[in-house]
Amino acid sequence: MEFMKAGQYLGKEKIGLTKIPKPSIFENEARIRVEYAGICGTDMMIYKGKHPRATAPTILGHEFSGTIDEIKSDSSYKVGDKVVVEPTISCGVCPPCQQGQTHICQNLKLIGIDMDGGFAEYVRVPIRNLHRVPKDFPSSLASMAEPLAVAIHTVRRSTLKVGENVSILGAGPIGILIGMVAKMNGAKNVFISDISSYRLEKARQLGLQAINASNKNVVDEVFKRTNNELIDVVFEVAGTQTTMDQMVELIKSQGQIVVVSVFKNNPNINLAAMHFNEISLTTTRCYSRSDFLTALDMMISKEMVRNSLSTIVSHELDIEELAKGFSLMQGSENSLKILIKSE
Ligand SMILES: NC(=O)c1ccc[n+]([C@@H]2O[C@H](COP(=O)([O-])OP(=O)(O)OC[C@H]3O[C@@H](n4cnc5c(N)ncnc54)[C@H](O)[C@@H]3O)[C@@H](O)[C@H]2O)c1
Ligand SMILES: [Zn+2]
Ligand SMILES: [Zn+2]
Repeated sequence: MEFMKAGQYLGKEKIGLTKIPKPSIFENEARIRVEYAGICGTDMMIYKGKHPRATAPTILGHEFSGTIDEIKSDSSYKVGDKVVVEPTISCGVCPPCQQGQTHICQNLKLIGIDMDGGFAEYVRVPIRNLHRVPKDFPSSLASMAEPLAVAIHTVRRSTLKVGENVSILGAGPIGILIGMVAKMNGAKNVFISDISSYRLEKARQLGLQAINASNKNVVDEVFKRTNNELIDVVFEVAGTQTTMDQMVELIKSQGQIVVVSVFKNNPNINLAAMHFNEISLTTTRCYSRSDFLTALDMMISKEMVRNSLSTIVSHELDIEELAKGFSLMQGSENSLKILIKSE
C-alpha cells in the first residue's frame, strides 16, 4: 500500500501531520496530486471549533489545484492535466437543486470540510468537480479560483451599479477580493476597514481606500471622505458585532447590505433603523458553476487579476508547516492568504 502526507484536523485547535494510505478512486473520480491549497477563514472557523458541520478527523482544504494522478472515466480529462477543483457537492434532488440553484442545496457538502480535502499530497475528487487549467498557468494562482468565485458571486448578488459607493467591513482575502471585483464593476469609492494594518496595506496596494478600525471611527471617516454621501452597498465580511452595527450606520436610504460572513451564533441587527430607511439585507453562499468559471476566466485573461491575487498571498508554506500556517492565520496582523505547497 502506498502512503501520503496529510494534514488532519483532529479537534479544536489541533492539526496533525500524518502518513495515511493514498486514496483509492472509483468510477467517475480522479485522484489529484495536490500542488497548492489555500487556508481560508472558514478553515479557521473549523479550527476554532466554531463551524456548524465539520467534524474531526478530516483533511481540510477546499481551495486547491494540482494535476490528475489517476482517473476512472471516459471523459476528456487525462493523467497529467492541470486542474483546479470546484469543491461543492450538491444532492441534485432537494428543491433548490431541482430549481438549478445547486449552490444552496439543502444537503450541500464541500470537499475539504465534509470530506477529505487538499491539505494532503493526494485527494479523491468526482470528475464533475474538475476544471482544466492551462499547463503554463501558475498552480498557486489557480488555487485561488475558489475565493475569487465567492467574491464574484457576492458582487453578482448585490445591486451595485456603476458610480456607486461601496464599503467593505473586513479586509481578509474575501473582503479584498470583493473590493477588487466591485472596482472592476465600476464602483466609485471602495472603502475597506479592518483592524490589521498589514491587511489594510495590501488592500491599499490594490487601489482600495483603507480605513484602520482600531484607531478611526469607520462611520465618521467614510462620511468625511464622501462629503456625507453615505454608502450604496455595504459588504459585511468580518463577522463581528461591531461590523454588524456599522453596516446599518453606513448605509444610505434604500441601500443594500450584503452579509457574507458565516455566524454560528446570531448577532444583533438594528432592524428598526433598517425599517425606517427601507434598507435591503442580502445574504450569500458560495458560488454557482458560472461564478467559478468566471473566476477562472478572469484570472487567466486579466493580468491585473493575477497581480492582485499574487499581492494577497502572504506566505507559501510546505505541508509540514501546516500547523504553523493555522497559527499564523489566528492573528490577522501578519498574514493574509496562506498557500500550502504539497509538492
Ligand atoms: N458566504 C460564503 O459563502 C463565504 C465564503 C467564504 C468565506 N465566508 C466568510 O466570510 C468571512 C471572511 O472570510 P475571510 O476568509 O476573508 O476571513 P478572515 O478571517 O481572513 O477575514 C476577516 C477579517 O475581519 C477583520 N476584522 C475583525 N474585526 C474587525 C472589525 N471590528 N472591523 C473590521 N474588520 C475586522 C479581521 O482582522 C480579518 O482581516 C468569514 O466569516 C468566512 O467564514 C463566507
Ligand atoms: Zn474558502
Ligand atoms: Zn440538493
